[in-house]
Amino acid sequence: MGLITLRQLLDHAAENRYGVPAFNINNMEQGLAILNAAQKTESPVILQASKGARAYAGDIMLSHIVVALSKMYPLIPICMHQDHGNNEATCMTAIKHGFTSVMMDGSLEVDQKTPASYEYNANITQKVVEMAHWVGASVEGELGVLGSLETGEAFKEDGSGAEGKLETNQLLTDPDQALDFVKKTDVDALAIACGTSHGAYKFSRKPDGDILAMEVIEKIHQKIPKTHLVMHGSSSVPQYLQDLINENGGEMSQTYGVPVEEIERGIKSGVRKINIDTDCRMAITGYFRKIAKDKPSEFDPRKFAIPGMKAMEDLCADRFERFGTAGHAGKIKALPLDKMAASYSNGELKQI
Ligand code: G3H
Ligand code: 13P
Ligand code: ZN
Repeated sequence: MGLITLRQLLDHAAENRYGVPAFNINNMEQGLAILNAAQKTESPVILQASKGARAYAGDIMLSHIVVALSKMYPLIPICMHQDHGNNEATCMTAIKHGFTSVMMDGSLEVDQKTPASYEYNANITQKVVEMAHWVGASVEGELGVLGSLETGEAFKEDGSGAEGKLETNQLLTDPDQALDFVKKTDVDALAIACGTSHGAYKFSRKPDGDILAMEVIEKIHQKIPKTHLVMHGSSSVPQYLQDLINENGGEMSQTYGVPVEEIERGIKSGVRKINIDTDCRMAITGYFRKIAKDKPSEFDPRKFAIPGMKAMEDLCADRFERFGTAGHAGKIKALPLDKMAASYSNGELKQI
C-alpha cells in the first residue's frame, strides 16, 4: 500500500466520519506495536516524529524504520508526519527524508516556548504550506496555545510547550480567527486549543466542560466545517497504567487525561487527527518497571520490551476501534505525492 499523505487520509476519514489516532514514534519497538495494532484492526495509521524523536533516532534510522514498516505491512496505508515542526527548515528536511506530512506549529515561536503573534503564525504557516504543496505533502497548522485551563500553564515535560502563564483567550482557539487562518494559510488540517496539554498531568480531576472545552471545537467546526481538526494532548492517561507504574516502583501522582468518550464527541464535530504519545510511553515503561521488579536477575532487553510492546499494541488497537478507524485500511488507495501536488495546483483541494 505504501505511504499516504495526511490530506488524503483525513479527507477519507471526513467522508466516512471517523478519526485517526496519530501515535508518536521514536524507535522500532513503537513502530511494530502500532503497526501490529493497525494490522489486527485493519486501520490506516499516522506515525509522527517530534524534533526530539528525530534527534534521538536520527533521520536516516527513522526514515528506514518507516520504509521497513511499509514493506512489512503492505496492506496498511501509513502517513509519516512531522510533529510540532518549529520552522521552515524542520518541515522541509522532514519532507526530504520521506515524510508525507508536516506540522508547522506557529502558535509558538521557533523556540517552541514563546507564544507567537497571530501574524507570525499565519505568515510562517502560509510559507510552509506553499512549499509543501509544491511537492504534494500535507501541512497541519496550529491556532491557539496548548495548556491547562486550570493553571494557565503548559507542562515542561514535553518537547514543545509554552513557558509562563497563559490567558484564557490564548488557551482557547477563536472560531472567527480560525476561519481567517485557514483562508490565509490553506492548511490541510488545523490543531486547535481547548484545554488539553502534553504529558501526563493534564487535569487534577476528571475533566468537565470548565476545563476541557469541547464546545469550542463544536463552534470551530460550525465555522469551518470542511477543515480537518486536530486534538493534541489527547492521551487518556488510563488509571491502569498509572497503577502499573506506581505498583512497580514508580512515583506518579494521581492525574487525569482526556476521556476517550470526549474524543468520540470531538470526532462527531470534525476532529480527524488525535495525537497520542504519553499513553504509549506509559505502557512501555510501565512494563519495563514490572519486569525489573518481578525478575531482578533479567538483563535481556527483549524480555523488557516484549510485554511493553504488547501493552502498547492493545492500547493502540483500542483507540483504532473507538475512533472508528478500524476496517478502513483496505478502502483507501494511497495517491503518490505528484498526484497530490497536481490537485493542489489546479485548486481541487481548497477547503474554503
Ligand atoms: O509534542 C509532544 C510529544 O509528546 C513529543 O514529545 O518532544 O519529548 O518527543 P518529545
Ligand atoms: P499526549 O502527551 O497527550 O500524548 O499528547 C501528544 C501530542 O499532542 C503530540 O503532539
Ligand atoms: Zn502535540
